[in-house]
Amino acid sequence: MARELTEVGVVGLGTMGAGIAEVLARAGLSVTAVDVDEAAVARGREHLEHSSGRAVQRGKLDAAERDAILGRIRFGTSLEDLAQAELVIEAVPERLELKREIFSALDKICPPDTILATNTSSLSVTEISVATGRPGKVIGMHFFNPAPVMKLVEVVRTVVTEPSVIEDVEALAERLGKVDVTIGDKAGFIANALLFGYLNHAVSMYENRYASREDIDAAMRLGCGLPMGPLALMDLIGIDTAYEILETMYRQSRDRLHAPTPIIKQMMTAGLLGRKSGRGFYTYAGRDSAEVV
Ligand code: 3HC
Repeated sequence: MARELTEVGVVGLGTMGAGIAEVLARAGLSVTAVDVDEAAVARGREHLEHSSGRAVQRGKLDAAERDAILGRIRFGTSLEDLAQAELVIEAVPERLELKREIFSALDKICPPDTILATNTSSLSVTEISVATGRPGKVIGMHFFNPAPVMKLVEVVRTVVTEPSVIEDVEALAERLGKVDVTIGDKAGFIANALLFGYLNHAVSMYENRYASREDIDAAMRLGCGLPMGPLALMDLIGIDTAYEILETMYRQSRDRLHAPTPIIKQMMTAGLLGRKSGRGFYTYAGRDSAEVV
């Protein structure tokens, strides 16, 4: 029988962390959401308020439900705030050392049976797990952007993840209204391993002036029925995140398909990070806006 998890922590309140906190709170869980400082927490809170506010505008939630959802999220700036959590989901930037430090700290703060999950999209869950004294309780729980909308959760098991932990996390994913797939610990798991070669190729078409950004995106939306074209999707994912994922997969596989197209790094260096900075392949009406100007 899977354990019914009710007290959950989220570390990192960027696009993914805030989205994950929203998903958890919508499912009735009590969430403690932590980021490094007050400014980062304020940005995460704003993202959550905006996202749940949009659901109210669209008639998907009423104001009281939105308030109840937001009321289930407690914010903090210290990992110590997670001392009561039964599960912690980490969603900080894709840097192995940073994640290892956080897992090592959580291992000391949380009770021994707390499950420590990472939302990493391409780093090795195994390497993260061995920064703790409980690698059997460490697992990957990979959500997709926007987390409140996308139905998939990839559950990533290492060679030492305990079967009961896998069962608990699969059961939680279902309670969140998600569909879970369970895979081994290989860079990119299933979805990103297939998706990013395609995205990288689309960027290289654009870089080589083979076609305009609008035409590349229209071809995939209208010719292949995808909800959004690859360059618009790069902007949604974030150019920095996309670069880190491609780099990690390329380092692991040495498959040229994943060698990041040079313009991706140039855009990242120039701060053109996509929707979150207001400009990427397209320019947006505001931070985190979907509206192209
Ligand atoms: N946050 C919360 N909800 C959002 C949202 C956001 N950022 N963006 C859209 N939504 C909701 C809307 O409120 C709406 O909800 P409703 O149907 O309940 O009213 C619904 O999504 C549809 O939104 P819109 O009508 O505004 O827009 P679209 O129909 O164009 O859908 C989209 C927007 C859901 C983003 C759609 O274009 C899509 O599915 N795009 C592909 C996204 C994708 O491929 N994501 C995976 C990226 S890879 C990844 O995340 C892995 C990681 O490791 C990088």
